[in-house]
Amino acid sequence: MSDQHSQNARRDFLKQATLISASLMAGTTYALEPRVPSQIKNLYPFFGTHQQGIASPAQKQIYFMVLDLHTHDIKEIKDMFKTWTEYSANLTSGKNVKNYGSNAYVPTIDTGEADGLNPHNLTLTFGISPTFFEKLGITKLKPKALNTLPHFPRDQLKEHYSGGDICIQACADDPQIAFHAVRNLVRVARSKITMRWSQSGFNSFENGDTPRNLFGFKDGTGNPQGEALNETVWCSENDWLKNGSYLVARRIQMHLETWDRTNLNGQEETFGRHRDSGAPLGEKKEFDAVDLEKKDEKGNVVIPEISHLHLAKKTGLKILRRSFSYASGVDPKTGQFDAGLLFISFQKDPAQFITIQNSLGNIDKMNEYITHIGSGLFACFAGVKDENDYLGKALFDQI
Ligand code: HEM
Repeated sequence: MSDQHSQNARRDFLKQATLISASLMAGTTYALEPRVPSQIKNLYPFFGTHQQGIASPAQKQIYFMVLDLHTHDIKEIKDMFKTWTEYSANLTSGKNVKNYGSNAYVPTIDTGEADGLNPHNLTLTFGISPTFFEKLGITKLKPKALNTLPHFPRDQLKEHYSGGDICIQACADDPQIAFHAVRNLVRVARSKITMRWSQSGFNSFENGDTPRNLFGFKDGTGNPQGEALNETVWCSENDWLKNGSYLVARRIQMHLETWDRTNLNGQEETFGRHRDSGAPLGEKKEFDAVDLEKKDEKGNVVIPEISHLHLAKKTGLKILRRSFSYASGVDPKTGQFDAGLLFISFQKDPAQFITIQNSLGNIDKMNEYITHIGSGLFACFAGVKDENDYLGKALFDQI
């Protein structure tokens, strides 16, 4: 660098430094107001026995994030969950993660894209995987049932949609609200975690009707409700996971082009339900009872034995499905839609999912139209009871 150049550079630097310190001394403030939606409405309570986003009625949007841990320091992780608790309580009640400060020379505490918006029924649900325990050297506290899911027939799992240590499920009736929440939770924890995989998704329905998946069928009809949730979803053993639940996530690609070439009878026989009404084959209404033994006049079973409904139901087991469709552009290899289902289910024991998935196995008629490409199993803590509690406290108290 020439003398002239370096003199100029020094002069510029000194000029900037003087400007910055002058304005800092003048106590520059900025005019960002706290997040104030015109009306605070549409919110699910954050504090409770169970985490939100499990039994809460499904919203229209999801942003699902899986994170890798980058520290083995348990104190740091505990503090991260404390911060996430505080931020989540604020976000789900329509506030920013914290109120803005007044120094315009530092990045703002909240990224701002939810300013002026109500919470749109935002729920935030947190879970940890088997590798979380391994990385932190606390495998003695890992529940016996929390293991990487077994390989299932026809699985074609991709590394970049599988694994990970922590999941955050953000659901809301507005996509920007869900994204804003995850973005800010990740941002505050950047030194401890990195992002591994994520998926956004959507569900559309009017007035609480069952949403339709991208195959055009009502999806969620057979879900347990009310009292049945206790037997299906909430962990009841007397350990740190009591009142929590297991979350299974599967990124399932749906081959829409192949499906769209299948005639209506073929589609209905695939699921074992009528497409229009959602009723079991041979019945009229969506919630009519499913009779797997029922035969037609020729003596054939009405709900085919290889239909999705027949195979799932014959296990006698229930899970709570809370899935969302996704459409993520075009598959560069095939030139077809990269679209499908971000399948999410909650159960008190992963064995419920494993048994059902094994029953679907190689025989489910739906298999020719789908490919499982992503997978994860996470233990979701119990709910945060009050301001003195935090996410995962029952676990961290035992370390
Ligand atoms: C792209 C993948 C999938 C699609 C499009 C799909 C779609 C459907 C549809 C349309 C129904 C009937 C209506 C209802 O009850 O919701 C259904 C039922 C069901 N599915 Fe799936 N499903 C998929 C994957 C799975 C997986 C991976 C599992 C679990 C291993 C599963 C478990 C169930 C269960 C338990 C039922 C209810 C059976 C009952 O009535 O007891 N599904 N699914």
